[in-house]
Amino acid sequence: MSEKRMSIQNNRNTAAAKAEAAYDPSMLNGTPRLDQSSVLAAYARWAPFYDFVFSRSFGFGRLFGLARRNALAHINARQGSLLEIGVGTGVALGDYARHLQVTGIDLSPEMLRVARKKVRDEGLTHVVDLLEMDASRLTFADGTFDTAATMFTITVVPHPEAVMAEIERVLKPGGEALIVSHFASERGWRHGLETLMTPLTSRLGWRPDFPVARLLDRPGLRHLETRSLDPFGVFSMVRLQRV
Ligand SMILES: C[S@@+](CC[C@H](N)C(=O)[O-])C[C@H]1O[C@@H](n2cnc3c(N)ncnc32)[C@H](O)[C@@H]1O
Repeated sequence: MSEKRMSIQNNRNTAAAKAEAAYDPSMLNGTPRLDQSSVLAAYARWAPFYDFVFSRSFGFGRLFGLARRNALAHINARQGSLLEIGVGTGVALGDYARHLQVTGIDLSPEMLRVARKKVRDEGLTHVVDLLEMDASRLTFADGTFDTAATMFTITVVPHPEAVMAEIERVLKPGGEALIVSHFASERGWRHGLETLMTPLTSRLGWRPDFPVARLLDRPGLRHLETRSLDPFGVFSMVRLQRV
């Protein structure tokens, strides 16, 4: 091999070695990747404490509870079948109107275990089913549900666009999707805080810097509104209608 060729080959090997050394499977485009195993591990850890932290009347629980209550007022005014995606420990199940037929799905068996106990202990007969399922690969037939709701989950799932495609598929024409979450702020102190928290994504189990625009480009889902929820507008509710 000529000297020039050998030098090109060496450069290539060095570049490949550098790229390999720099490759970090936990990162995607400079942002920590949320993969299914980190989500499962995070919620297996959360399950025993989740209700204590996120559904009490103080601290985080109060913040999440007020946002949930806003969304529930809207969901409970609807009729027919409701799919809750990322039902978790079933914090909202007891607050759904009894005229709804509720199906909940979640990836985490530990979270679902707590939800199933709640259904048994509280006699929640409007809860038709609680199933272990990946939101990005739902096993329901097309056009099954009148409403699909997901609270504090879309920024947690590894593939949010795939979840949106599934929501579109399983909703009946005219059905509504309600998505409640914290979405990225474009400026101000919240934007600064989100940027600081982003490297912790896989530890937190959710993305602090998730732009709402990622939910809005499904051809079969018409954007009805994005509403900032009390208190302080930390969370928003996005409403979409199946065309
Ligand atoms: C922050 S918790 C929200 C629980 C509940 N919705 C609430 O209001 O508190 C997020 C939930 O999403 C679930 N989850 C994450 N990725 C998922 C996926 N791909 N499919 C289904 N559930 C998923 C987690 O297991 C967890 O229970």
